[in-house]
Amino acid sequence: MTDKPFLYVVVCAAGVAADVHQLITAAQERGWEVGVIATPTATNGFFDAAAVETRTGRAIRSAWRRPEDPRPFPAPDAVVVAPATFNTVNKWAAGIADTLAVGTLCEAAGLGVPIAVLPCVADALAAHPAYRDSVARLRGMGVRFGDPYAGGPEADGVRREFRWESALDLLRRA
Ligand SMILES: Cc1cc2nc3c(=O)[nH]c(=O)nc-3n(C[C@H](O)[C@H](O)[C@H](O)COP(=O)(O)O)c2cc1C
Repeated sequence: MTDKPFLYVVVCAAGVAADVHQLITAAQERGWEVGVIATPTATNGFFDAAAVETRTGRAIRSAWRRPEDPRPFPAPDAVVVAPATFNTVNKWAAGIADTLAVGTLCEAAGLGVPIAVLPCVADALAAHPAYRDSVARLRGMGVRFGDPYAGGPEADGVRREFRWESALDLLRRA
């Protein structure tokens, strides 16, 4: 048991998820206890699950618990979704809770838990009207979005850094 605030880190299946340990370490350095919830696809080799479990000291959650099992994580004080995929953002906005990750996000928003999102969505997908509507809908629910990030190299051929710590900065906003 700890009296540290508890942060859920929701990890989706985007290539940049391979570096999610950077977010976990930064959050722990800022005083958060961290539990990771990954989408089922994200657990399929998108990041080093064993390293994440060692770092957090907790098993990664991806599926719902059995009814008779205790809740594996305490209730969240805040949630970060990073990286957030096109798929998960759209399902979340539509209320399609077919993964533990999206179900958790839908519920956390309804409970008024602060949520920060770092999308990693290619420009071609971000241009889809459903995605634009989803982001607007989630913003309207109070969800805090970081800068758009397309994942690939920009026009100058350089790939920008994914600003993991900006998610933690978003949570500090009043
Ligand atoms: C190597 C690889 C990288 C991917 N990167 C992204 C990405 O950056 N953003 C995205 O929205 N989808 C990306 N995808 C597609 C998602 O994995 C796919 O839409 C999946 O259904 C997302 O599931 P989830 O939202 O439940 O994690 C990638 C797929 C692969 C195989």
